[in-house]
Amino acid sequence: MSSTSSYSHTGRPANRVDGAAKVTGTARYAAEFTGADLLHGHVVCSGIPRGKILSVCTSEAESIPGVVKVFTHENTPHLAWLDRSYRDQVAPDGSPLRPLHDWEIYFQGQPVALVVASTPEVAAYAASLVRVTCEADTCSTDLAEERANAYKAPASRSGIELPPDPRGDPDEVHAAAGLSLEENYGTPAQHHNPMELFASTAVWEKDVLVVYDKTQGVLNTQAYLTKVFSLSKKALQVRSPFVGGAFGSALRPQFQCFMAVLAALELQRNVKISLTRRQMFGLSGRSRTIQNVKLGATLYGELKSVIHECFSETSRFEDYIENVVNWSGVLYRCENVRQKYELAKLDINTPCDMRAPGATQGVFAFECAIDELAAALKIDPLEFRIRHHIDRDQTKDLPYSSKQLLECYRQGAAAFGWERRDAVVGSGREGRTLKGSGVATGVWEAMQMPASAKAVLGADGKLVVSSATSDIGTGTYTIMSQIAAEALGLDITDVKFQLGDTALPSSPLQGGSWTAASVGTAVDAACRKIRKKLLKMAESHPAFDGTREDDLTLDEGCVIVAGDPAHRISFTDLLEASSVSKIQRKSTALPKILKQRKYARQAHSAVFAEVEVDEDTRMVRVTRVVSAIAAGRIINPKTARSQILGGIVWGIGMALQEETVHDHRLGRIINPGLADYHFPVHADIGDIEVIFVPEDDNVVNPLGVKGLGEIGLVGVAAAVANAVHHATGRRVRDLPFTPDKLL
Ligand code: MOS
Repeated sequence: MSSTSSYSHTGRPANRVDGAAKVTGTARYAAEFTGADLLHGHVVCSGIPRGKILSVCTSEAESIPGVVKVFTHENTPHLAWLDRSYRDQVAPDGSPLRPLHDWEIYFQGQPVALVVASTPEVAAYAASLVRVTCEADTCSTDLAEERANAYKAPASRSGIELPPDPRGDPDEVHAAAGLSLEENYGTPAQHHNPMELFASTAVWEKDVLVVYDKTQGVLNTQAYLTKVFSLSKKALQVRSPFVGGAFGSALRPQFQCFMAVLAALELQRNVKISLTRRQMFGLSGRSRTIQNVKLGATLYGELKSVIHECFSETSRFEDYIENVVNWSGVLYRCENVRQKYELAKLDINTPCDMRAPGATQGVFAFECAIDELAAALKIDPLEFRIRHHIDRDQTKDLPYSSKQLLECYRQGAAAFGWERRDAVVGSGREGRTLKGSGVATGVWEAMQMPASAKAVLGADGKLVVSSATSDIGTGTYTIMSQIAAEALGLDITDVKFQLGDTALPSSPLQGGSWTAASVGTAVDAACRKIRKKLLKMAESHPAFDGTREDDLTLDEGCVIVAGDPAHRISFTDLLEASSVSKIQRKSTALPKILKQRKYARQAHSAVFAEVEVDEDTRMVRVTRVVSAIAAGRIINPKTARSQILGGIVWGIGMALQEETVHDHRLGRIINPGLADYHFPVHADIGDIEVIFVPEDDNVVNPLGVKGLGEIGLVGVAAAVANAVHHATGRRVRDLPFTPDKLL
């Protein structure tokens, strides 16, 4: 097919099509929808992490004017949970939390009552008057204390790979290695703090309950709600046109959503629940890990063995698993590898996916260990990585669909000025400032899920494309508009993309960095069907007098004779001439599994960081980061760069600041708010440079995109840690590197 208009949109830095709506406040988020006589719910959360509710006294709360009802486990209508085995799409093995179901307390912050009132203020005040009497059990929130209770993670969470069988003789080789290293690393629990608070607004539209929810997947939320409340999908629709950040926190339906629907059904009223920032720490967050890495090498600097073990946490009621350790078996050439992944049950909410779940923690430990090994061998850490580069996935024994990691190292190093680095630790001292630099590798899977999209070209020449996906701030609206505009030779302003509505064609959850690959392929395919139809119609239009389809192209909203741009007819004229009011096509894009399974498919990065450490206060400042990314084709370099910038800032926070702290005696989180839970602000961030290394890949999907959500974060904290060592000579293996750990 001749298509001179191809690539006129993709590959270009288009502004966000939803940018104006967002900055002018017309973009509406879950808590901003409303309904007639709207009621407001305020959640009461448990102060203890484990025990039983003996009684809930609600009379004082109920006496406040404006309070409509207080829901507790004692009076919760039996509307819900007919099928207790039901789990949402991304639920781990186990049985999900059933809010207000019974007296059992599993974690601090668990919802134990819901006050519904006429205003949010009345609801919040009345909630403060609900008296919950509990019998507290002894609790455990300290992962390190639970070693004896570690168990092998079960293999049932779909899509998450557990450690593969060992290869070679890792333990023997490690014991006999010319140079060996064994270190422990720790990463803390973290809690999701997207800008937008979790909220759900349940509004009756005649007999249909419409739930505006903060979610990364309207269909998952709908499936969950209809299942637990025994409703038909017609009777309950979910919409989520805008999401103010989610990063994994809105993959699973959260408890405020369940509670808003419960109240709306029972009271037959419109109900809104918004959680407070503090209550969001009762939702789930990144799992804590304790990791042990053993590396063995020859004295000449060849990596001979890798052993990576991780011990992580889950709740009493679910077995949350993620891929922490498998990455260390594929990043470098090595014949002898063994990995282990174990869990322990704590009195916490089930951890959940948080941007690059698993890889963020596992690659941190492994990439620090690799740096330590290179230092012990007196080999430049970048040189060590390049020497051990491999073009084959050694775990799956497959070639890569594409892998430009060497080029990431080369371009990243050139931009960073790595060759000017003095390898001597502490050599960067300037007065009382210790300067250093470090490098790390990043990796993430390139995945594609089945997805559908619909495209409608109207008689006015405007295109409307839709899919039930979401845009958590990543730029989905924009890149889907670009893909559609390009397929049909339209101006991007003539394309409207709709998402976040269960009435639209089905789409996977927005997670795992697979949206561009999955939904993008479906959008492209639906639009190409319209393209085909337009070309067919043009062939038989008198203006083209039998010009063959192959000699026609689409551009500027017209069918054009290739090589003769004046010879054209607009889509509007063409539709009118054919008496067609619109062209509508739907497409479902399935991954080409037979082709894909012959290859390993991953995105890669090389991250370079420069730090300055104050000799006296031990404050670390990350002055510069260069990240070179190979993630297939880049649809929009502007929104793509923003994705990576966000990941890098998050990585700096992970290295230096971010941590959920428990008081283990009480089982309570002691920093549940932005005053105490720290992450970087603008003033904490220095120069960041993002490089996209071109990568051609026709295996991952027809668009050749690998996805960018997660890769930006992986490896950043390790690069910072390695730079801190270069600056100070101190290895801190326990995140975050607060000044006290560097004294
Ligand atoms: Mo992805 S875990 O939803 O950032």
